[in-house]
Amino acid sequence: MHFLLLIGFISTLVGIYQRFIKKYIYRPHVLPSNPIVIWFYGWLIRNGFLVGFPTETVFGMGANGLDSIAVSKIYDIKQRPSNNPVILHINGIEEVFEHNLVIITSHEEKILRCLAEAFWDGPATFVMRANLNVVPSNVRAGGNFVSFRSPSHPDAKRLIKAAGCPIAAPSANKYGYVSPTQASDVLGDYLNDGRCLFILDETTPMLDSDGIESAIFKIVGNTITILRSGRIGEGQVFTALAKAGFNMEQIVISYFIRVLEEGDTSTVAEAPGQHYRHYSPNTLTFRSSVAPSFAERTNRDLSKYVIIAANNEHASEKCLKYISLGKTITETARNLYKSMREADLLKSDGIIISIASAEDNVGGLKRALEEKIDRATEKRFIEL
Ligand code: TXA
Ligand code: MG
Repeated sequence: MHFLLLIGFISTLVGIYQRFIKKYIYRPHVLPSNPIVIWFYGWLIRNGFLVGFPTETVFGMGANGLDSIAVSKIYDIKQRPSNNPVILHINGIEEVFEHNLVIITSHEEKILRCLAEAFWDGPATFVMRANLNVVPSNVRAGGNFVSFRSPSHPDAKRLIKAAGCPIAAPSANKYGYVSPTQASDVLGDYLNDGRCLFILDETTPMLDSDGIESAIFKIVGNTITILRSGRIGEGQVFTALAKAGFNMEQIVISYFIRVLEEGDTSTVAEAPGQHYRHYSPNTLTFRSSVAPSFAERTNRDLSKYVIIAANNEHASEKCLKYISLGKTITETARNLYKSMREADLLKSDGIIISIASAEDNVGGLKRALEEKIDRATEKRFIEL
């Protein structure tokens, strides 16, 4: 009898313990940036664990970029197809060579150094021929090229330094969903995964953050292909190289346009987000090419729609909620993902996005925003 009571007592304790572990350990943890947390997170990365961290573009899901097992955890947690390579985050151009990441010609190195000098630390990613002996295959998605960038966010820089290795990091969202721009976004995406995941919160958010992903430039010989648009555009690349004395008659700068067929997981994605639906809210999302003031004049019933639009002068009363992206293109970029996530939390019949009123442009921002919105909406258009 006593024996049975003892067994019952022990199994109750084990049950409580397991529930405790599930509730408090196997879940995402957000800790604010401070020297002890940075040291701990650096240790986690070096030893094969994942850490969500802020950058000046979007939050990344980081792992030791030279450890293929650690990198495979990124693919697993994000549910990311294995044909989509990841970016290595480093501190400054010299780390490309210290870690022996690339095998490139001296001319390619000159181009790289010139562009890194012009745009780093910052939202420019370079794709170059990889040193296959150093860069794990899953970082390259099995291809021969590696991508890398040196972020400017102080917490990202501190984390890379503490880790002592390149940090492989895609955006921290679940594959296909809207990229995260705050720690709470990452927390929400993994809250129900039942995994222990550490996230770094910025103590002071960067005022001049980009809010959308880095521009990606592939450099091979004299050819620079823009695989993904971002704030740094074609014109700035041209100017930087011309200023440095490169013969611009020989250098070709062009955009890469190809979209993988839906469901194609066998081809190595040469450029990001080529899978058609990307950066996408769960709610049906539409784009509109007219200023939101039209919402006031339309006969369409918008009472169950959320409108996200640049230029708050045109705020509409007729919809479920109006979210302003801000006046300038820079503000629009900074607020786009945040607004899409906010809109997605509301129970609506649809989200309508318009950046028609954002008239100014900075580098490649407008093009980049158009691309994001095209993918988020799968080019669904709504007439107002
Ligand atoms: O701003 C950013 O770049 C953010 C922050 C966290 O740094 N990162 C980011 O990573 O946007 P991700 O994985 O969401 O988008 C990077 C894209 C991938 O979709 C991939 O297709 C492309 O970059 N990419 C990475 N390595 C590549 C490579 N070796 N060749 C061609 N494209 C590559
Ligand atoms: Mg991404």
